[in-house]
Amino acid sequence: MEMDQLVALCKRRGFLFQSSEIYGGLQGFWDYGPMGVELKRNVREAWWRDMVTAHDESQVPPGAPSAYEMTGLDCTIIMHPQVWKCSGHYDMFHDFMVDCRDSKRRYRYDQVQGRWAECDSRRVFVATAVTGQEALEETQNKAMKFFNLRAKNADRLTWNGPLVSLTTIEDFAEVLGPDTKQLGTLTQPREFNLMFKTIVGALGGEDDAAFLRPETAQGIFVNFKNVVDSTRVKIPFGIAQIGKSFRNEITPRNFTFRSREFEQMEIEFFCHPGTSAEWYRYWRDRRYQWYVDLGLAGDRLRLRDHDPDELSHYSCGTADIEYAFPFLADGEFGELEGVAHRGDFDLRSHMEGKLVRQGDGFAVEQNEHGQPKHRGSGKDLTYYDDLTKERYLPHVIEPSAGADRATLAFLCEAYTEDEVPDEKGRPTGRVFLRLHPRLAPIKAAVFPLVRKDGMPEVAREIYRALKPHFNVFYDEKGAVGRRYRRQDEIGTPFCITVDGQTMQDGTVTIRDRDTLEQWRVKKEDCPDEIRRRLTA
Ligand code: GAP
Repeated sequence: MEMDQLVALCKRRGFLFQSSEIYGGLQGFWDYGPMGVELKRNVREAWWRDMVTAHDESQVPPGAPSAYEMTGLDCTIIMHPQVWKCSGHYDMFHDFMVDCRDSKRRYRYDQVQGRWAECDSRRVFVATAVTGQEALEETQNKAMKFFNLRAKNADRLTWNGPLVSLTTIEDFAEVLGPDTKQLGTLTQPREFNLMFKTIVGALGGEDDAAFLRPETAQGIFVNFKNVVDSTRVKIPFGIAQIGKSFRNEITPRNFTFRSREFEQMEIEFFCHPGTSAEWYRYWRDRRYQWYVDLGLAGDRLRLRDHDPDELSHYSCGTADIEYAFPFLADGEFGELEGVAHRGDFDLRSHMEGKLVRQGDGFAVEQNEHGQPKHRGSGKDLTYYDDLTKERYLPHVIEPSAGADRATLAFLCEAYTEDEVPDEKGRPTGRVFLRLHPRLAPIKAAVFPLVRKDGMPEVAREIYRALKPHFNVFYDEKGAVGRRYRRQDEIGTPFCITVDGQTMQDGTVTIRDRDTLEQWRVKKEDCPDEIRRRLTA
C-alpha cells in the first residue's frame, strides 16, 4: 500500500483532516472526522478496558510475577512548572536543530544525513533530510547538479564512504544543505525546547510561565501519594491515564505519526525493586501481545530491546514496540510504544529534586551555591508495606503508548485491496479496511434491498433494535452492491440486508466484510448474532 492511498481514503471517508484546513492547515495538527473519532475512541476504549477495567486483580495473569491491581487517573494538562523542572523536561527536553540561511528551512540536526562526494579533487558533503534508498538517489542527483555533471561523465564523481549523520561533521563550510544549491548555508546546531509555553492568569508575566504537558506520565507520579492514600491499592499496582500531550516538534511529519498535539495512553506500574526486572519483562510482552490481538499480527510489528547505549539516562531497560509504517524506507520501523524500566528515578526526583547521573547512580543536581538546582516537593513518596513492615521507594515500569500512532498503524495494517464479483458476477476492484471488529467505527450496517414492499420498515425495526447496543448505520440509497462497497471502505464488519425472503420467513442475510460469506438469521436474532460475532 502506498501511503498516499491511505491518506486519500482517510480524507474521502472522514477519518482524518488537516487541522484548520480551510485556512491552509497548521503543520503537525490533525482533526479526526466522523469515522476517525469512532476509530480512535475504540482504540482508547480497548486499551482502557484491557488494561484497567477488565483486569482481574484476583488472578495471576500468564507471565506475571504475581496478581496486581490497576487503577486510573485524569490529570490536568497544565501543571505546576516545578513538575517539569524536577522531571528534567525543563532542562533537557530539547532537540538540536540547524537552519538553512538560503532556503529558510529548519531541520532536526540528528535527522539530516549525507555523504562525501568528490569531483576533480573537490570534496563536498551532500546532505539530505530523507532516508533509505531515497537518500542515496537524492544525494546522487544533487551532487551531479552541484558539479555540473551530465550522465555521460558521471564517472568523474566518486563517493567517499556511506551515508552518515550530519552530527559527525565538524565544519559546515563544505556542507551542501538539503534544500539549497549553495555550500555552507547551514547554521550551527541550536537547542530548541519542545515544551509549549503559556502564561497562567490575565496579568501574568514570565514568572507565571507554565507548560502544556509533553507527556501524561508526570501527572501520575505527582499523584502517586494521593492514589495510595485515597484508595486501598497495594503494591504492585499500576495507574493508567489517557490524555493529550503537546510537543513543539521541529519536523512534524508522516501524517499523524509525529504531531505537535497527540494523545498518549500511559501506565506507571509501581513495584518492589526486587521484582522490577520481572515486571519489566511481563509488561513488555503483555503490551506487544495487545497489538497482536487487535490485528497487527504480521511481520510489520516487532518488539525491539534497546541497546545499552540507547537507554535514556534514567532507564535500566527499555524496549520499543515498533511498526513498519509504509512511509518508512524498507527495513525501517517506527515506534508505537516504549516500555521502560525507570527504577525509582521519577518518584525520587519529585521527592528530592532534579537528578543527574553520578557514577553508577543519581544525585540531586546542585547549582553554583551548592543547593538543589530544581528543588523537589519534599513530600515523602516512599511506600510502607504493612505486611512485611518494609518502607521503600517503589520502582516503576512504564508502558507508554501513543493513541494516534496506534490508530495510524491499525489503519495501515487494515488497508486492503482485492477483487470481488459485482452484481453481474464480473470481478471488480475493492478497497476495504480489515479492521478488528472491536476497532471498526461502525459495527453493522442495515439495508433494505429495495425501497418498497415494506422492506425499509423492517430494516428500520432491526436498526432500532441494534442501535442501543452498537454503533450501526442505516442506508437505503443506491444499488446494494455500492452500499456494501461504501461500508467495506470504512471497515464495517457486517452488513444486514432485508430482502424478499425476509418478508416471507422473517430471516435476513448477514454479510461478512472479509470473506464475503452470507448467511441467514431470524431478524429478531440480529442483536445476539452481531454481539456473538463481535466478541468471537
Ligand atoms: N512518558 C514517556 C514518553 O512520553 P515517548 O517515547 O516520548 O515516552 C511515548 O512517548 C509514545 O507517545 C510514543 O511511543 C508515541 O507513540 C507517542 N508519541 C510521542 N511523541 C509523539 C508525537 N510527536 N506524535 C505522535 N505520537 C507521539
